[in-house]
Amino acid sequence: TLEAGTQIDVMNPQGAFVSKTHLTGLNNPEVIREEIAKIDNPHLVAIAAGSGITPIMAIAQTVLSESEDSTFELIFANKGGSEVMFAEEIGDLKDKYPTRFAVHHVLSREQRVNPLFSGRIDSEKLQLLLDNVVRTEAIDEWFLCGPFELVQLVRDELNGRKVDEQTIRYELFTTGKPTGSQQQTGRHVEADPDGKNVEITFNLDGLSGKVESPESANETLLNATLRARPDVPFACAGGVCGTCRAKLVEGEVDMAENFALEKDEIEKGYILTCQSRPKTATIKLDFDA
Ligand code: FES
Repeated sequence: TLEAGTQIDVMNPQGAFVSKTHLTGLNNPEVIREEIAKIDNPHLVAIAAGSGITPIMAIAQTVLSESEDSTFELIFANKGGSEVMFAEEIGDLKDKYPTRFAVHHVLSREQRVNPLFSGRIDSEKLQLLLDNVVRTEAIDEWFLCGPFELVQLVRDELNGRKVDEQTIRYELFTTGKPTGSQQQTGRHVEADPDGKNVEITFNLDGLSGKVESPESANETLLNATLRARPDVPFACAGGVCGTCRAKLVEGEVDMAENFALEKDEIEKGYILTCQSRPKTATIKLDFDA
């Protein structure tokens, strides 16, 4: 029913894919500026594939312009040279910061002079890149953005090399898993008048809501809360984006997947409602926390 001229409300950008902040708040360049200023000679490395370059461009541009002693190195994987997004902007960064910005294109379907930069980034190639192109021990922060397999491969390799987890930020498009039972948003469930129901209460935008969920349905908290409030935030429903994050104030849940919350958020009691199923008869959530 949308027409030209229709105005719609959209959410603010959210997420933790910003430099040196673990807050899932606004993806705010101001935060990057303040945080980067606290590090001496910050050296950042990004590994992106395809459109995974999008958030990394913004971070690279901001970091390089805000911190004069920063260096930024980018490993960028694509199928071919003609598919490289932001090719011009990347060229501009090289011209503007010739000593502080470096890009290494890895093309899976094109032969390059150095074979290291041709072919898919698999475990072997990644090790060569990390051994020969970037110095893992001298890096303040890592940014990984692309398909699940690549991001996971790099995370595993960095973990194996004992890189401090706190310095690794990643963003995924999807988990790469086929839609399974976890993707049940919109599943039709009704409270069972004769059966046992879980009572779920929640805060969202300053208003409280309540919904019942039959124990036998084993539905996610997101699926249940959407019955009471269609504006409960979510996007991927696959445990990747973090949009459905809420604080678990009371009760216990089973969280199936988590590719969005950082360790400290989990310790503070945050959960992904699209991945969490109740384990107790009462659940209290706060989407505003
Ligand atoms: S909606 Fe994306 S993680 Fe839950």
